[in-house]
Amino acid sequence: MENYQTISLIVEGPVATVKINRPEALNALNSVLVRELVAALDALEADGSVRCVVLTGSDKAFCAGADIKEMANLSAADIETADHLKPVWDRAASFEKPLIAALSGYTLGGGLELAMCCDIIIASEGTKLGQPEINIGIIPGGGGTQRLPRAVGKYKAMEMILTGAAISAEEAKALGLVNRVVPPGKYLEEATKLASEIASKAPIAVRSAKEAIAASQEMGLSSGLELGRTLFYDLFNTEDKKEGMSAFLAKRKPNFVGR
Ligand code: CAA
Repeated sequence: MENYQTISLIVEGPVATVKINRPEALNALNSVLVRELVAALDALEADGSVRCVVLTGSDKAFCAGADIKEMANLSAADIETADHLKPVWDRAASFEKPLIAALSGYTLGGGLELAMCCDIIIASEGTKLGQPEINIGIIPGGGGTQRLPRAVGKYKAMEMILTGAAISAEEAKALGLVNRVVPPGKYLEEATKLASEIASKAPIAVRSAKEAIAASQEMGLSSGLELGRTLFYDLFNTEDKKEGMSAFLAKRKPNFVGR
């Protein structure tokens, strides 16, 4: 496994945990961190033994956004031609296995955009979620202007992005931006438990479900229904479908093999 400077990677059975580790900058996304996160997700996607991934940071910060020091002197031409950040959101958003964000502390700017590229979001009480880019003269550049309104609706997204004010984990949960809020110190445990549960399901069905739900955010209803139906039909050729249904009928636990 690669020697990472800004993240750590732990694989335990079918669940992998990627931890962002740049405490000196509250886990802000700089080019090294982006490169390492992309490399780790590439490796985890290729690793057939990994079925679900948890992405987390520290108690103090999941990620305080893009690294402002690295962006301070860039012009429009510089950022457009050599966008050092874009690959991280693209990679997370296109990851084929379930990705669970386990948040605590500051989850701001590009950090919230990274969390929104995940499939399920667990947050510790005290997590602060926001898009403060407006306060430094820019707008969210990692998909926040599109994913936030899809998650919380146009009006709340406008308020968050135009004021830059952060919201609490409880408010984010009420808005549908967070799945569960858990007591301090429990966010990683809760996310890992959920990841293990998902990892025990039939892997091809999990991937198909994720693909269909992700498509619902981009497609019109009839094309989405068609895709969902195709994926549903395809699963009838898998060994795991046979195993799942036979196990149900024999009143035993299924043993899924991912074929
Ligand atoms: N980039 C670079 N460094 C950052 C950072 C960031 N986004 N956020 C925090 N840091 C650094 C600080 O500069 C500081 O470093 P030094 O000790 O070397 O000065 C260290 O992390 C600790 O931060 P603070 O002293 O500011 O900690 P605090 O507890 O007083 O405040 C905070 C915490 C409210 C999160 C504050 O750090 C802050 O406002 N950070 C910036 C948040 C932000 O604007 N994020 C959006 C970035 S732009 C973006 O993400 C664009 C995009 O959409 C792609």
